[in-house]
Amino acid sequence: MKIDTDAKANRLYSPQLVGLITTIDPSGKPNVATFAWITSVSSNPEMIAVCLAPKRYTYECIAQSGEFVVNLPTVDIIDSVWFCGKHSGRDVDKFKETGLTPLDSIKVKPPRIKECAAHLECRLANTFEVGDHIIVIGEVVAKSCDESAIVDETLNITKVKPLLHAGGSKFVVAKEIMDVK
Ligand SMILES: Cc1cc2nc3c(=O)[nH]c(=O)nc-3n(C[C@H](O)[C@H](O)[C@H](O)COP(=O)(O)O)c2cc1C
Repeated sequence: MKIDTDAKANRLYSPQLVGLITTIDPSGKPNVATFAWITSVSSNPEMIAVCLAPKRYTYECIAQSGEFVVNLPTVDIIDSVWFCGKHSGRDVDKFKETGLTPLDSIKVKPPRIKECAAHLECRLANTFEVGDHIIVIGEVVAKSCDESAIVDETLNITKVKPLLHAGGSKFVVAKEIMDVK
């Protein structure tokens, strides 16, 4: 039997893959924050959309610098993922507090995160206000990953174990691939 529900739409349509987004402020200081409302929106050119509440420091930094990196965290750094989603870069140095390691990016100024498995370096292409969030569209200008992260052009899930967000403090860990062929 189906029931009507007051559950949030984003909790019914879940879990959603988590990214750690890195940015820099005008002085060049890096910040990192956790986001789950991220999706690919174009394959040629490759573009990615991130839904940010306008008050996020991350949004301010992207609007100022025009660049960001989407890093793919694994279950190994779940505590850092949580910390970066609960504190603002306006108040704390999240690289210092978590011990995450900034790594120079290939084409943009915000750093990659060494402990993450894959990295999409983006240049700001467009923004759209939608309800209480802003959709930030980035063009992917460089891609990199751990050597073992890709097998048969697919993320090596058994090795990488990415995190998905189910809502609140609940996460899902992806561990297995099903190939329907
Ligand atoms: C698992 C998780 C997912 C999140 N996803 C989003 C999101 O998609 N959009 C958003 O605006 N905030 C999201 N947040 C909240 C931000 O991560 C949080 O407000 C953070 O402190 C922002 O940091 P900043 O101010 O340094 O940018 C999420 C938090 C968590 C823990």
